[in-house]
Amino acid sequence: MTKYNTNSRTVELEVEDFGKCKWHVEAEKSVQYTVLESYKLFDIENRDILLGHLNSRRFIIIDEQVNIRYGQRIEEYFDHYNLECRFLPLEVSEQTKTIQTVLQLVEELDNFGLLRRNEPIIAIGGGVLLDIVGLVASLYRRGVPYIRVPTTLMALIDAGIGVKTGVNFHTHKNRIGTYHAPQITFIDKNFLKTLDQRHICNGLAEILKIGIVKDRTLFNLLEKYSTELITSKFQNPKISDVILQRSIGGMLEELEPNLWEQQLYRLMDFGHSFSPKLEMSAIPKLLHGEAVAVDMAFSTVLAAERNLISTTDRDRILRLTRLLKLPTTHKLFTPSLLFDSMHEIIKHRDGLQRLPLPIGIGQADFFNDLTEQEIEAASDTLQKLKENE
Ligand SMILES: NC(=O)c1ccc[n+]([C@@H]2O[C@H](COP(=O)([O-])OP(=O)(O)OC[C@H]3O[C@@H](n4cnc5c(N)ncnc54)[C@H](O)[C@@H]3O)[C@@H](O)[C@H]2O)c1
Ligand SMILES: [Zn+2]
Repeated sequence: MTKYNTNSRTVELEVEDFGKCKWHVEAEKSVQYTVLESYKLFDIENRDILLGHLNSRRFIIIDEQVNIRYGQRIEEYFDHYNLECRFLPLEVSEQTKTIQTVLQLVEELDNFGLLRRNEPIIAIGGGVLLDIVGLVASLYRRGVPYIRVPTTLMALIDAGIGVKTGVNFHTHKNRIGTYHAPQITFIDKNFLKTLDQRHICNGLAEILKIGIVKDRTLFNLLEKYSTELITSKFQNPKISDVILQRSIGGMLEELEPNLWEQQLYRLMDFGHSFSPKLEMSAIPKLLHGEAVAVDMAFSTVLAAERNLISTTDRDRILRLTRLLKLPTTHKLFTPSLLFDSMHEIIKHRDGLQRLPLPIGIGQADFFNDLTEQEIEAASDTLQKLKENE
């Protein structure tokens, strides 16, 4: 065997029988990105998003709704620094979260003549916009840098801080996607002031998830401050900062050692086993976090039926879900949808259920032996609990 050492990799050459050659290539790619709290990102005196570059152009893709509320201020910000910008407001929804939209954006980038390394695309919006633009950035020229500016709670604590990108395909959620880290994500909770209450609660579903499976303190804080968080839209720093920081920190702690999802036992999949099918069946009526909440309520009941958690803890979780103005059931969440979801998730998790279930508040474990009878029984119990509310 001969080894050729180049700067960053080793190519191994084996000469097999009959003089046939075989080369084995091994390379590693290290990924680094930053998530930075930056309050009032587009106030003139805040220079964070300039990243020290005052000579390059900016290609900005912004959610149409965010553009209506903040577009003028953002344009004035870049004008102040004499930066040439191309603004592209985009109307987004789960229905337009498609590969066709990705290709339209590629067309725009090509017309702009984006430089390959030094003109990071700036994506400003909720999870839908960030997922689409992330995919565009990962495909264009096989990957160009981009910056994320999340503007919904869901995006601030989840969609905006990982490396996943994606669009829907047929009836499948995020079926086409890549892993492409942003250069940096800016966390500015000031954007939440204009978000409607339903979308605040939608993001709270993912915070609740972290509380249930890994952070009991976070769960307790949510119980204590649910109303305050919803009515103040996270603008009360004494309460909201610690909750945002624990959520982002907790999420990144789970993502970092498993960024490319090599390991398919993922705690952050709690609430994401049965919900994708529900979400896609109920579009546009049900939001992502709402579908996740229904899945979490069901999985919690499953856990209680298995005696993994007490009925007291089960009821605490269901009560908090309701306090956060999230649903615990849905008419389309039938045993038949649950069976289909289980079959789908087994494919997604490479042959095993790998189902995360709570084993107390703030802890979870994985299970591979869920039966259809259990699904039916838990579905029945959840329905009865709902009737007795
Ligand atoms: N990539 C990931 O790791 C990841 C993680 C979680 C969720 N997601 C994806 O995120 C999507 C959901 O994201 P979302 O909940 O942010 O939805 P969204 O992007 O649709 O935004 C919700 C609504 O709020 C509007 N909006 C955005 N910011 C606003 C603001 N500051 N003020 C007023 N209105 C505003 C949007 O126009 C939209 O109508 C789903 O498609 C889900 O699959 C991805
Ligand atoms: Zn989610």
